[in-house]
Amino acid sequence: MERGLILLVAALMVYVAPGVHGTAHLSFANNTEVEVNRDGCGVTKLCLETPDDCDPSTEGMCLFVALQTSPPMPPEGTNLSVGLRGTSEGYVAMGLTNNANEGSTMLFICAQNSSNNGSFFFRTMERNNSNGELTPNERITQEIRGTVNNSVIRCQFEVPNLNASQLRTSHATTFAVLLGTGPVENGMIGNFDIMLRSNPLNIANPTATDIATTTEAPMNGTTMPASMTTVTTAAGSALHPHAVLLLLSIIMLFMAQRR
Ligand SMILES: *[C@@H]1O[C@H](CO)[C@@H](O)[C@H](O)[C@H]1NC(C)=O
Ligand SMILES: *[C@@H]1O[C@H](CO)[C@@H](O)[C@H](O)[C@H]1NC(C)=O
Ligand SMILES: *[C@@H]1O[C@H](CO)[C@@H](O)[C@H](O)[C@H]1NC(C)=O
Ligand SMILES: *[C@@H]1O[C@H](CO)[C@@H](O)[C@H](O)[C@H]1NC(C)=O
Ligand SMILES: *[C@@H]1O[C@H](CO)[C@@H](O)[C@H](O)[C@H]1NC(C)=O
Ligand SMILES: *[C@@H]1O[C@H](CO)[C@@H](O)[C@H](O)[C@H]1NC(C)=O
Ligand SMILES: *[C@@H]1O[C@H](CO)[C@@H](O)[C@H](O)[C@H]1NC(C)=O
Repeated sequence: MERGLILLVAALMVYVAPGVHGTAHLSFANNTEVEVNRDGCGVTKLCLETPDDCDPSTEGMCLFVALQTSPPMPPEGTNLSVGLRGTSEGYVAMGLTNNANEGSTMLFICAQNSSNNGSFFFRTMERNNSNGELTPNERITQEIRGTVNNSVIRCQFEVPNLNASQLRTSHATTFAVLLGTGPVENGMIGNFDIMLRSNPLNIANPTATDIATTTEAPMNGTTMPASMTTVTTAAGSALHPHAVLLLLSIIMLFMAQRR
């Protein structure tokens, strides 16, 4: 019983630990107009979404990201413009990573503050891809703006000087893109539920055609309706966030020990 309790507390700490630290690396746009739509998808912007072809400009279910890069300026890289839209009582986020199963993901989080009438706030985090743990990081992000309407969160931001090659041996603009949602509890960013992951792709190429993506069943039934789970564009096997599995197994262990 006692051991189970300790494990549960440890699990909750893993869940809660991603705290809110400095925000000096974030700068907000004066213009608060937020426009996330499909204009230019496949022409000037690379768009990823679930369900397929959903329209981010309506109020329906649609987890969507549009990515547009500036002309690269070696060695700094490119400036990435992002339009993100999703449905969550907590946050929606876009991640960039080399490999969603190892290393880490740069996570850009657009969230609503339920203690303040659902006002918009923004965070950057690093996700450990091995265990799903989130830690605040200081990735410079500019021109941030966002709106929240009930559970629909829309935001735009720019990530300057993005160059994958400075982090590892890969092409400067090649990333796997992750989309998902998660909770915000007492101002803390909770675990990231991945709902879409792309294969590594050149985000500077809006016409990247062979974007094999895997859409995942949400782990948290409260953030997405059941219809989301039917969407599949399967390429490779579905992989679940390790942290959620860890948390679930620890809770199950705890429950088992209580009997
Ligand atoms: C926003 O407005 C303030 C004050 O007018 C100005 O100092 C700042 O540079 C502006 N920021 C941007 C991104 O335009
Ligand atoms: C990215 O960084 C590498 C290593 O510093 C450099 O050789 C390359 O030119 C950079 N690419 C871009 C597009 O900035
Ligand atoms: C959320 O709103 C409350 C009340 O206005 C405020 O104290 C808190 O700092 C806000 N949290 C975030 C993450 O912005
Ligand atoms: C909260 O938001 C609603 C809808 O936008 C608005 O009508 C209400 O005045 C807001 N309340 C506060 C305390 O800001
Ligand atoms: C990520 O988590 C794994 C497993 O818990 C750990 O071994 C590794 O050191 C962590 N990586 C980072 C960068 O924290
Ligand atoms: C907010 O969402 C509701 C539906 O949930 C919609 O009727 C309304 O027009 C939206 N408001 C704005 C400002 O988009
Ligand atoms: C990228 O952003 C940086 C910092 O905001 C700026 O100095 C640079 O001119 C931008 N480059 C392009 C090509 O827009």
